[in-house]
Amino acid sequence: MKNIYFAGGCFWGTQHFFSQVDGVKEAVCGYANGNTVNPKYEEVYTDTTGFAETVRVCYNPERVSLEELTSLFFCIIDPLSLNRQGHDEGTRYRTGIYYTDPAERACIQNVYAKEEAKAGAPLVVELEPLRNFYEAEERHQAYLDKNPEGYCHLSLKTFRYLRLFQDIRLYLGDEQNRIARMANTAALIQERMHFFWTGFYLADDKQLVLGPFQGPAACMRIGYGKGVCGTAWKEDRTVVVPDVHQFPGHIACSSLSQSEIVVPLHGPDGQVSAVLDIDSDQLATFDETDALWLEKIAALI
Ligand code: SME
Repeated sequence: MKNIYFAGGCFWGTQHFFSQVDGVKEAVCGYANGNTVNPKYEEVYTDTTGFAETVRVCYNPERVSLEELTSLFFCIIDPLSLNRQGHDEGTRYRTGIYYTDPAERACIQNVYAKEEAKAGAPLVVELEPLRNFYEAEERHQAYLDKNPEGYCHLSLKTFRYLRLFQDIRLYLGDEQNRIARMANTAALIQERMHFFWTGFYLADDKQLVLGPFQGPAACMRIGYGKGVCGTAWKEDRTVVVPDVHQFPGHIACSSLSQSEIVVPLHGPDGQVSAVLDIDSDQLATFDETDALWLEKIAALI
């Protein structure tokens, strides 16, 4: 077993998240890299002790890599926000990755650099050796399990997507057939998230052709650059549409569809080879959290 320490704002949510990551044995709330000894929550709360709310993640490196844990950490923070995550503000809510083995730094740095390139600006996430760590009081451990309605700056959707992402990866295993992978991915997304329509369109010459899906019968062909799907393909980016009636050129396969998200998939040549299209019968169903996790799911195909 190995330990890595993540400061991701309020530790309740960070602990709840990592305790559900496959290969993690235990996630413990505590206070790291401060200037006093045995700090109490109330002292840390004054923001004068230098401690950051931090979670010690104890993991089995044969089941989950440090690289994967670090990537997952970046899914639950805003790495450009200094001393603030969600509504929580103060140096105790700064973000950081603290390691105990200097040999681990290069691996973390690698993920960090990719995230920085994606963000297009220097990240404010600390990457430092762990100087000290004190476990937090019992009442702060598994707080969101004890208080399911409790405050958390992370959305409930985040935790649902983490489980969905891991389950899809497990389910697909080493199956090589892309259609089979798409079929079960659509089924799992639909079963868990209860969207109106979830499916894939495959790029075929200058058109997208309907692939595996769950939901009502849908349009079978969409032109390059046409509708939301064709736009995601042409512009090679995730397109989130809060109200399909406001999207010029939207293709209404069903009049019940109100909002939509389309995520491109890439082939070995880096070109868009398909899109994942999800429709909702409610307005404004999809946001950045959906985009982030559905992009991770699309990359599994
Ligand atoms: N509305 C999509 C077409 C596909 S259906 O939503 C299943 C679009 O405008 O691309």
